[in-house]
Amino acid sequence: MTDRRVFLQIPGPTNVPPRILQAMNRPLVNHRGPEFEALIKECLAGLKKVLKTKSDVLIFPGSGSGGLEAAIVNTLSPGDKVLSVQHGVFSERFGSIAAAHGADVEKLEVEWGRAFDPGIVLERLAKDTHGSIKAVLVSHNETSTCVINDVGSIGRGMAELKHPGLLMVDAVSSLAMADLETDAWNIDIVISASQKGLMLPPGLAILSVSEKAWEAYKTAKMARWFWDFRRMVDAQKQGRVPYTIPTSLLFGLREALCMIEAEGLENVFARHARLARGVRAAVREMGLEVLPPEEEASPTVTGVKIPAGIEWASLNAALLEKGIVMGGGLAKLQGRIFRLGHMGWIFETELLGILSVLESGLAGLGYKVEAGSAVKGFTRATEI
Ligand SMILES: Cc1ncc(COP(=O)(O)O)c(C=O)c1O
Repeated sequence: MTDRRVFLQIPGPTNVPPRILQAMNRPLVNHRGPEFEALIKECLAGLKKVLKTKSDVLIFPGSGSGGLEAAIVNTLSPGDKVLSVQHGVFSERFGSIAAAHGADVEKLEVEWGRAFDPGIVLERLAKDTHGSIKAVLVSHNETSTCVINDVGSIGRGMAELKHPGLLMVDAVSSLAMADLETDAWNIDIVISASQKGLMLPPGLAILSVSEKAWEAYKTAKMARWFWDFRRMVDAQKQGRVPYTIPTSLLFGLREALCMIEAEGLENVFARHARLARGVRAAVREMGLEVLPPEEEASPTVTGVKIPAGIEWASLNAALLEKGIVMGGGLAKLQGRIFRLGHMGWIFETELLGILSVLESGLAGLGYKVEAGSAVKGFTRATEI
């Protein structure tokens, strides 16, 4: 392949802006020195704004899955009952992690490709009159099925029910892209990672921890050392870390937070929502089907059903040839959908090109599509 710009349109990691690459391209610093202290304090303060929380925020070396594990092992004991709402690879993973550590996991299964109905989750919690469910595990954005969930209704509903369980929200593929009101929605632990909305390479897990989660920490008996919240929060409050962290990524994180602040968090959300609407309209204009219903569709990644007669491997190869990398379907959706990520540093211009290449790639494989449909659908829905 010629040395062209590659558009990384998988649902994370995402395209890293040159400004962030530049910020990370510098000599390393002592992670026990004064420069580091200022850096991590700035990052934590910036993350609190993005997470909309006054609670503690922690940055761990690790990926999103590590963050999910950290949330579990710091707040639960073996045998504790948890309610795990599952409708895709990542919501299942959250439950599996809890089970691996000995939690008694009750699954609330929802059709893949649909958001969960908060009413059904709250109905289950309303029946738990003795408060035996210690935690509720949900995804904000289920990346494998490309749906966004109404986690606010769960948090508000749990408060109304006075349910004592912790609400843990996987926001790996939604943070800094879709509104997430950690405090206003009574979320006890939010888990995210660096490589999606924060526009960084992989390597950092990010968590918020409420007062209620700290109470649970006091009695939680699951084994932990690397993921221990207390050791990390005590160190980070003083501008330190208990062990080595990817310092280069923190320089990138500080830059990313500046970029988000300059654009305005709400504008970042609106841009993602607008672009996602445009992508879905383009997909439909090409005669293709989006996996979830419109009102449940993710603002960060679009799941497209692969039309009859087209193989994902051939379409993927045609896209790669033009420098575009999209994601295939995962688990039972493998070969049935492909996923176009529109996360982080992405704007109208790139998507117009990407969608046009998708259209011509499909046409080249024999799919009947009117030339120009993708641009037509996208521009109409985004009012360019
Ligand atoms: C919603 C969600 N949760 C968890 C993960 C796992 O994150 P990681 O691959 O960083 O461990 C992902 C990764 O794509 C995700 O999208």
